[in-house]
Amino acid sequence: MAVTVQRHDDIAVVSMDNPPVNALGFALRSGLMHALTELRGAEGLKAIVLAGTPRAFSGGADITEFGKPMQEPNLRVVITAIEDMDIPVVAAIHGVALGGGLELALGCHARVAWASARLGLPEVKLGLLPGAGGTQRLPRVVGVEKALSMIVTGNPIGGKEAAEIGLVDALLDGAYPDAAVAWARGVAAGRRVRDREEKLQPARDDAGLIDRLAAPLLKASGAAAPKACVEAVRNATTMTFDDGAKAERHLFEQLVAGDESRAHRHAFFAEREAQKAKLPAGTVARKIERAAVIGAGTMGGGIAMCFANAGIPVTVIETEQAPLDRGLGRVGELYEGSAKRGSITADQARDRRSLIEGTIDIEAVRHADIVIEAVFEEMSVKRSVFERLDRIAKPGAILATNTSYLDIDQIAAVTSRPADVLGMHFFSPANVMRLLEIVRGSQTSPEVIATASELGKKLGKVSVVVGNCFGFVGNRILSKRTDAAERLLLDGASPQEVDKALTDFGFRMGPFAMADLAGLDIGMRIRKAFGKRAPVADAITDAGRYGQKTGKGYYIYEGRQSTPDPEVDAIIEAEAAKLGIKRRKIGQHEIIERLVYPMINEAARILDEGIADRPGDIDAIWLHGYNWPAWRGGPMFYANLVGLPTVRDKLTQFAAATGDKSLEPAPLLLRLADSGQGFGNGPQ
Ligand code: CAA
Repeated sequence: MAVTVQRHDDIAVVSMDNPPVNALGFALRSGLMHALTELRGAEGLKAIVLAGTPRAFSGGADITEFGKPMQEPNLRVVITAIEDMDIPVVAAIHGVALGGGLELALGCHARVAWASARLGLPEVKLGLLPGAGGTQRLPRVVGVEKALSMIVTGNPIGGKEAAEIGLVDALLDGAYPDAAVAWARGVAAGRRVRDREEKLQPARDDAGLIDRLAAPLLKASGAAAPKACVEAVRNATTMTFDDGAKAERHLFEQLVAGDESRAHRHAFFAEREAQKAKLPAGTVARKIERAAVIGAGTMGGGIAMCFANAGIPVTVIETEQAPLDRGLGRVGELYEGSAKRGSITADQARDRRSLIEGTIDIEAVRHADIVIEAVFEEMSVKRSVFERLDRIAKPGAILATNTSYLDIDQIAAVTSRPADVLGMHFFSPANVMRLLEIVRGSQTSPEVIATASELGKKLGKVSVVVGNCFGFVGNRILSKRTDAAERLLLDGASPQEVDKALTDFGFRMGPFAMADLAGLDIGMRIRKAFGKRAPVADAITDAGRYGQKTGKGYYIYEGRQSTPDPEVDAIIEAEAAKLGIKRRKIGQHEIIERLVYPMINEAARILDEGIADRPGDIDAIWLHGYNWPAWRGGPMFYANLVGLPTVRDKLTQFAAATGDKSLEPAPLLLRLADSGQGFGNGPQ
C-alpha cells in the first residue's frame, strides 16, 4: 500500500511509502485522496500528520509520467483537498521534500522538518517550473526574494534555513514521525497555524524587487524555464491565487511539452542509467578504506581532496619535498577558500585537510586499498610508476591511472596483476568536476570495475564505465571538435566567432577560450607525440603563445580578461594562404553544425565499437565533464532532435568539401538514419 493511515487517538498519521523517493505517481495521489476522504469528518480527529519515509517526504512528481496522459487525480487536486480539510494537516518532513513534494507540503496548514531535511523546488533543472501551485504558494509563505531564488536556481535549502525563513513552522529532532504527532497535538490544542485565507493573500513585490533580483539569475542561461519561473513568481504579486495558479499551469504545460524539458528529463535518467555498470550478476566490490595518490600536481591534489571530502584517508606521494609541499599547500588554500566562502564550515575544512597526508616515500602505497597515479602524461613515465607500484602495493589493491588518453593495457602490461589495473579519469579541477570515466582495460576484472563504480558514487561523481581507446569517450569526441574548430579558422571564422557560437549554443566557454585557459602547450605536446599537424594551433604555439599563462593565446589577456588579437588574425590568414584556402564569412548555424556533427559521428563509432555501452552514457559524459548545456540533453539527444538524416547529409557534404574522410558518416549513423531511427530510443 502506497498510503497508509494510522490513528494515534486524536491524531491521524497518513504515511506515503512509494520507494525509493516517494515520487507522487498515480498510486500515491489516489492513495492520498482515499485517505483524506476516509478522514474527513472522522470522529474525535483533531489533526492529521502527513509523513513520508526517513529518506524522502517526497521527491516530487513522478518524472516518468511527464509527456503521458495524466491519470486523475492530479497533484493540484490532491493539494486542494488537503488545503480544504477542516482540521489542520501538518507536513512532517524528513529527507527530501522536492518539487511536487514541497508543493504538497505547502498545501498543508503547517510544516515541521528535521534539520537534515532538504527542501526545494528543483523543477527548473528539469526545464520546468513548479506546476502544482508552488510558484504561488512559496512567495506567499517566505516572501518574494527567497522564493525567487529557490525557484529560479532550483537549489534546495536545509531544514534549519527553512525554519529561519518560515518555510517550516518548527524544527524537530525526535523520532520520525512520532515527534510530529506530538507537535500536531499542540496544534489541536490551539497552536496557531495559517489558514487558507491567510495563505492565499497576494505576495508583495516592493518597488520592482523582482526585476532587480531576476536579472542576475537569468543572465547565465539561454533557457526558457528560468524566465517562466520569474513570470510565475511575478504573477503571485499581481494576480489572485486562482489566476496565478492558472497562469502557472499554462506555463508548465508549454514547458513540459517542449524540447528543453525533454532534454533535461533525458539527462536526468541518462545520468542515473550511466552509473549502472554492466557487470556479471553477483559481482562484489572490494572495500576501500585507505587511498594513495601518486603526484601532488593540480590533478593529484584535486583527486586527494575527493577522497578526503568523502571521509577516506589518503596519502599523496611525490618524488621530492618541494613539489609535495607546494601541492599540499594548494590543497590547504582551497579548503580555506571554501570555508571562507561558507560552502563548508571551518571545522569541516580542518577535518578534511587532516585526512590528507603527504610523503616522498613511495613505500607508503603499501597501506592503500587503491592507488591512483596522476603523474606526467607520458607512457614511459606511467609505466615506470606502475612497475614500482606492482612491487610495493598489497595484494588485491587496485592500481588506477588518471591518464586522459593513454592505452590502459600498455600500462597494465608492466604489472603482474593486469586484472587489478584500470583507468580512473578525473576531470580538472578534480574536486569540482563531477565526471569520472572508469576505463576498463582488456584484462580488468569485473570486481575492480565494480569497486571503482561504487567508489565513484562515494566520491560524489557521475562515474561512467568506458572502453579503452585513445581519449576514451570524452576526449576522443572532443578531439573531433578541436579539429573542426581549427578547420573553421582556416576557412574564415575568427576564434571569437567560433567561441561565441558555442556560448550562444549554451556552453560556458568556446573551444579557444577553453584551450587558452587549459594551456596550449598541452595540445601541442599531444600533437607532437602522435605526429599530428594543426597549422593554426602549431603557428600559435610556435609564436610562444601558450594561453592565459603567457598572457597570449588565441586571445590577448589582461588578467583573465580576454580581447581578440589582430596578430592572431594575421597568423590564421597566413596559414590559410599557405594552404591555398580562400577564407569566407561563416554563419553561426554553420559553425555549430561543423563543430557538433563530427562529434556525433565519432560518438556513433564509439558506440559501434562498444567503447560506450549506451548513447545516454555519452550524453552523461558530455553533460558532466564538458559542460554540454543540460537543456540540450547531450550530443546524442541533440542528434536525435536535429534528425539523423540531417546529420548524415551534412557530414557527407563536409567530407566532400574538405576531403577529410573521417567526416564521412559512420556506419552506425548511416544504419540508423537510413532506417529512420535515432540513437537509443530517440528523444523521450
Ligand atoms: N520521479 C521519478 N523517479 C525518480 C524521481 C522522480 N521525481 N526522483 C528520483 N527518481 C528515481 C531515480 O531515477 C532513481 O531511479 P533508479 O534507481 O531506477 O535509477 C531513484 O529514484 C533514486 O534516485 P537517485 O539515484 O537520484 O537517488 P538520490 O538519493 O541520489 O537522490 C533525489 C534522490 C534528491 C530525490 C533525486 O533523485 C532527485 O533530485 N530527484 C528529482 C527531484 C525533482 O526534480 N523533483 C521535481 C519533479 S518535477 C515536479 O515535481 C513538477 C511539479 O511541480 C508537479
